[in-house]
Amino acid sequence: MKTITQILTEVVSDAFEKCGYDRSLGNVTVSDRLDLCQFQCNGAFSAAKQFRKAPFMIADEVSAVLSENPVFEKAVTCKPGFINMTVKDSFLLELFNEIAGDKFLGTPQAENPDTIVIDYGGPNVAKPLHIGHLRSAIIGESLKRLARACGYKVISDVHLGDWGLQIGLVIAELEERNPEWSCFDASFTDGKIPELTADMLNEIYPFASKKSKTDEEFKIKAHQATADLQNQRPGYIALWKEILRVSIADLKSNYEKLGVDFDLWYGESDADKYVDELVETLTRKELLYESEGAMVVDVSLETDNAPMPPVIIKKSDNSSIYATTDLATIIQRNKDFSPSKIWYVVDKRQDLHFTQVFRCARKAGLVPVDTELALLGFGTMNGSDGKPYKTRDGGVMRLSDLLETVTDAAVSKLNKSEYVTDENHMDIAGKVGVAAVKFGDLINHRSKDYIFDLDKFLSFEGKTGTYLLYTVTRINSIIKKAQYDKTTYNVDNLYTDTERELILTILLTGEVFRRAMEEKAPNYICENAYKLAVIFSRFYHDNHILSEEDEAKKNNWMSLIAFTRKLIMKHLDILAIEAVENM
Ligand code: ARG
Repeated sequence: MKTITQILTEVVSDAFEKCGYDRSLGNVTVSDRLDLCQFQCNGAFSAAKQFRKAPFMIADEVSAVLSENPVFEKAVTCKPGFINMTVKDSFLLELFNEIAGDKFLGTPQAENPDTIVIDYGGPNVAKPLHIGHLRSAIIGESLKRLARACGYKVISDVHLGDWGLQIGLVIAELEERNPEWSCFDASFTDGKIPELTADMLNEIYPFASKKSKTDEEFKIKAHQATADLQNQRPGYIALWKEILRVSIADLKSNYEKLGVDFDLWYGESDADKYVDELVETLTRKELLYESEGAMVVDVSLETDNAPMPPVIIKKSDNSSIYATTDLATIIQRNKDFSPSKIWYVVDKRQDLHFTQVFRCARKAGLVPVDTELALLGFGTMNGSDGKPYKTRDGGVMRLSDLLETVTDAAVSKLNKSEYVTDENHMDIAGKVGVAAVKFGDLINHRSKDYIFDLDKFLSFEGKTGTYLLYTVTRINSIIKKAQYDKTTYNVDNLYTDTERELILTILLTGEVFRRAMEEKAPNYICENAYKLAVIFSRFYHDNHILSEEDEAKKNNWMSLIAFTRKLIMKHLDILAIEAVENM
């Protein structure tokens, strides 16, 4: 389905052409002064340069043609050469009813709906999920849903950090504590591995990590364990599988609370089988060379104005590192899915790593030249001191602790509501809390840092998840009170200005979705959801729907707000925010 601005752009382009100018001048945008007009076109200014004529003269010619068109209520020139347009209500309603009956609710569908792989989440096995990974999960999940809503086939991959030093540290520490476990026997082939728990891992990793910083001998052991694991030592592989089992179960339960889910639970280890092919390709293309005992690839460019270190493919002990697994994973993704885009939702401070990886992938031709490889880097979530958000004692905040804090805050916030009963209190608070955190994050452009301000996020006013959920509950209650149960929508008359504004915002939503997709930026979805909620509130304030006696009017209005709810819910769904019935 075409969006309203696309339709009008065609109409205005035709008019330019009819007047003897270029079609490309007819681009129509929404006016930011609805009191003056709804749409505008600034093409006469470019035409003026090309044809050496005053802009308003060209605008006049085009407006005259547009005025003949039944779509417009008015199309006029505004000096020095803007074309200002307002369309007829009948045209708005025709489009509204079309969108209301459209299964995509007017979201433009991709012309070439190819495959996108999105790599987000990126938790590390054996390390507790901390808030550094929160943004990746929140932003990645919403980009996945956005791309799907635009018709793309999207594959989400959590890309677990399951193959690096953190596992070596845990294995080395477990070995020091339990040398008698059969898996530590060099001759181990198979046998039972003692059961581990998430709590054990949560304790052991920080302990081992700290120890490796002061205890050189232990550090060497951990590195050795990592290399041995990567070289498939059977006892370590068996233990690693147990660590993975426990860790993944724990991660899944945390992601579930956030409404985040992945198609693939691949890890860095799954790339291992492509490492030989990677090394072979890099060797064949004469890109790999030795430097200080390691095997590296030069990825610098003449145009670089900062030093660009070579990317390390194999360390001197033949172990793989972060870049190795990322490159091998590109081979795997290309083989399995031939994606047209691979997006990485990762902390923007990893920019250098990804620049190296992408350049190396291009040099080696690991993907076709037109495959997009993009880092969608995000900024940090800061505390009120402007520094990365920490626990009270200065440690890294665990995601589970954060969710608890947020739910507690929501619990006290909701106490005053008549709808919140003892039974549903915790459930509603949990949802409101998660909505607050997610919206508080997604409303910022992903690349920006922002301050985690729970009070503000939980406020019933302003651009918050709480306000949106609250708006949905208000619509729910109107619909319930009116005993309105229609699920198809039809509006055949416009009675008031706010109603027109609401319809116009609904019609412009498709454009917002397109832009969000183009810029890979869910913040536009947040802004639009907020806008719909605000205009709905104004509409509801101005028009007394429930007491309206004119049946036809009332039906139109009910249809409009029911559809508004549906559209807001679609926004929430893309943001992976769950609504509540009452609050
Ligand atoms: N595990 C990594 C980290 O904690 C993030 C992984 C991001 N994805 C990737 N393909 N490198 O920093």
